[in-house]
Amino acid sequence: MDDLSTIRSEALGAVQQAADLAALDAARVAALGKKGSVSGLMKTLGGSALSARLVNEKIDVSLPARPEGQGSLHPIGQVMDELAAIFGEMGFTWADGPDIEDDWHNFTALNIPPDHPARQMQDTFYLPPRADGTPMVLRTHTSPVQARTMLDKNVQRMLADGGSLRIIVPGRTFRIDNDATHTPMFHQVEGLVIDRTTHMGHLKGCVHDFCRAFFEVDDLPLRFRPSYFPFTEPSAEADIGCSWKDGELRIGAGDSWLEILGSGMVHPNVIANCGLDPAIYQGFAFGMGIDRIAMLKYGIPDLRSFFDSDLRWLRHYGFSTLEWPSLTQGLGR
Ligand code: PHE
Repeated sequence: MDDLSTIRSEALGAVQQAADLAALDAARVAALGKKGSVSGLMKTLGGSALSARLVNEKIDVSLPARPEGQGSLHPIGQVMDELAAIFGEMGFTWADGPDIEDDWHNFTALNIPPDHPARQMQDTFYLPPRADGTPMVLRTHTSPVQARTMLDKNVQRMLADGGSLRIIVPGRTFRIDNDATHTPMFHQVEGLVIDRTTHMGHLKGCVHDFCRAFFEVDDLPLRFRPSYFPFTEPSAEADIGCSWKDGELRIGAGDSWLEILGSGMVHPNVIANCGLDPAIYQGFAFGMGIDRIAMLKYGIPDLRSFFDSDLRWLRHYGFSTLEWPSLTQGLGR
């Protein structure tokens, strides 16, 4: 500021003493010209702003770094990836279908006619019907995707050309149920193979290979029990061997069995309902609870905790996002 008032009085003095126009102009140049005193002062403005910033914005390098939050994969997502790795190796692709399903795909196509008592096997959430009157449900199983896939014109063409249909369908399913081992929303994986020659022996081999790979127990015993499902004939449930020691479950050869899936040869009525000729095409299907096999493999005691969104639980049971499950590098932890 001192500079400023000196420059001001000097400049005004020069103007006052100017005897002619040339002297007046010289006074103007001395103050405001390119190299004038005022212009010189202007140039220092940038410098003083910079030093002000340097004083205010200094970085304290001794401050500890803020930790980067690291997410983890939910066990359900992890197990779905493991399923994809194992079945992918066997030639299966991943198929999807809607959570909100019509009554025809969820029941009728699967050989469960209206008013059939088999509908009561699965406690269904009914939704308001569509405008055209079609009854709608939250799908009670992933089996409707069997029908959706077989009805697909590209799939039918591929089968007609002698190809083989192999899909897995991991996804959400819904039933009216709620306790330590049942939640109203849960997850299933459907498996479906259709061609001209696939038989029950292939079903057993496929389930066998899957269970051994998934539970990572080479000599895992497996047994098939006759069962009933409207959409398969014959039908079977599969159990894996296990034992209990001091209240802890061990999967592998032992004196106990755990049920893990329902399965069977696709019923000829289902094949016909989906526009394929059951005299030509046959195959197997299975359905398995993803939450259940995740609990068994990773020792998670309560099904409901899967859906609590408790970060402490997720940190404990979650999986690294950087390791993709594969048969060669390892599936689990
Ligand atoms: N959809 C059956 C269920 O939810 C499981 C299943 C699928 C059984 C395919 C046989 C074949 O219980």
